[in-house]
Amino acid sequence: MPRPDEIMYPTRPERQQDRRKEAHQGKVLDEFFDHPTLLAISRLINRGLFDAIDHPISTGKEGGVFRGTKGSGFVAIKVYRIGNATFRRFPSYALEELRREVSVRNLRTLIPAWTRREHTILGRLRAAGVRVPEPLGYHRNVLVMEYIGGREGAAPRLKDALVEDLSGLYDDLVEQIRRMWEPGGLVHGDLSPYNLLYREGKVVAIDVAQAVSVEHPEAVRLLERDVGHLAGFLVREGLKVKASEFLERVRPPPSSTEE
Ligand SMILES: Nc1ncnc2c1ncn2[C@@H]1O[C@H](COP(=O)(O)OP(=O)(O)OP(=O)(O)O)[C@@H](O)[C@H]1O
Ligand SMILES: [Mg+2]
Repeated sequence: MPRPDEIMYPTRPERQQDRRKEAHQGKVLDEFFDHPTLLAISRLINRGLFDAIDHPISTGKEGGVFRGTKGSGFVAIKVYRIGNATFRRFPSYALEELRREVSVRNLRTLIPAWTRREHTILGRLRAAGVRVPEPLGYHRNVLVMEYIGGREGAAPRLKDALVEDLSGLYDDLVEQIRRMWEPGGLVHGDLSPYNLLYREGKVVAIDVAQAVSVEHPEAVRLLERDVGHLAGFLVREGLKVKASEFLERVRPPPSSTEE
C-alpha cells in the first residue's frame, strides 16, 4: 500500500524504494553525530530553533539532512561532517572567498564558515525572490532551514519527481535562475535535478553554499554549466530546449538590450 508521502508527492518507483530504505536508517543517527555536533544541536535547541531531531531525509559521506520538529511544524537540519570528504566537495573558487575569513586548511574553522556561507546565501537568494528554503539559524556545522515538504514527507528532488507540465517547469527554471543573477547577483554553480526540490509544480533550489557572485571571473562559465545541466534534463524528459535559448532567456546578451 502506498504511504501518504507517496500519494502526496508521486515519484518514480525506484525513488519510492530509496525512501523506504531511508526510513530504516534510524540507526544511522547513532553513528552520525559526534560530540561537538551534538553540542551544536543542543545549542540550537536551547535557542528555540527546533524541539527534536526526527529522522534522516538524506545522509552521505559529507553530511546529512534531517527532519526536525518545532511545535506542530517541521524544520530541515543540515549537518556537515567535519572531515576530508566534505572538504573535497568545496570548489576552489568558493574556497578562495572563504580564505579571507578563515584558514581553509583547518577543517574545524572551514566547515563552520561553509555552513555560515550557506545560511547567508540562502538569505540573499530569498531576498531576491528566488524560491529557496528560509534560513532559520546555524551553529558551527549545523544549519537549520525551512523544511520543504509536508507532514507526509519531504518533497522529491527534481530528478525523482513526476513532472506533468514540462514547459511550465522550463519557465519556472528560467525565472529562478534569472532572479539569482538579477537582483540576486549570484550564480548557483551546482544546479542540477539533484539540487532542486519539486513541490506543487515549482522548483525550490537547495545546496547553495558554492554560489558565486556574478562579478566573479568564473560566473559566466558556471551559469552556462548550470543551464546546460538543466537543458539536458528537460531534453531527456522530452521538451525541445536549446541550451543557448535557455541561456538567453536567463540573461539576454548585452547587445539585445541596447537601443
Ligand atoms: N530544506 C529542505 N527540506 C527538505 N528536504 C531537504 C531540504 N534540504 C535538503 N533536503 C534533502 O536533503 C538532500 C541533501 O541536501 P543537499 O543537497 O543540501 O546536501 P548535500 O550535502 O549536497 O547532499 P547530496 O550530496 O545528497 O546532494 C536533498 O537532496 C533533499 O532530499
Ligand atoms: Mg546536494
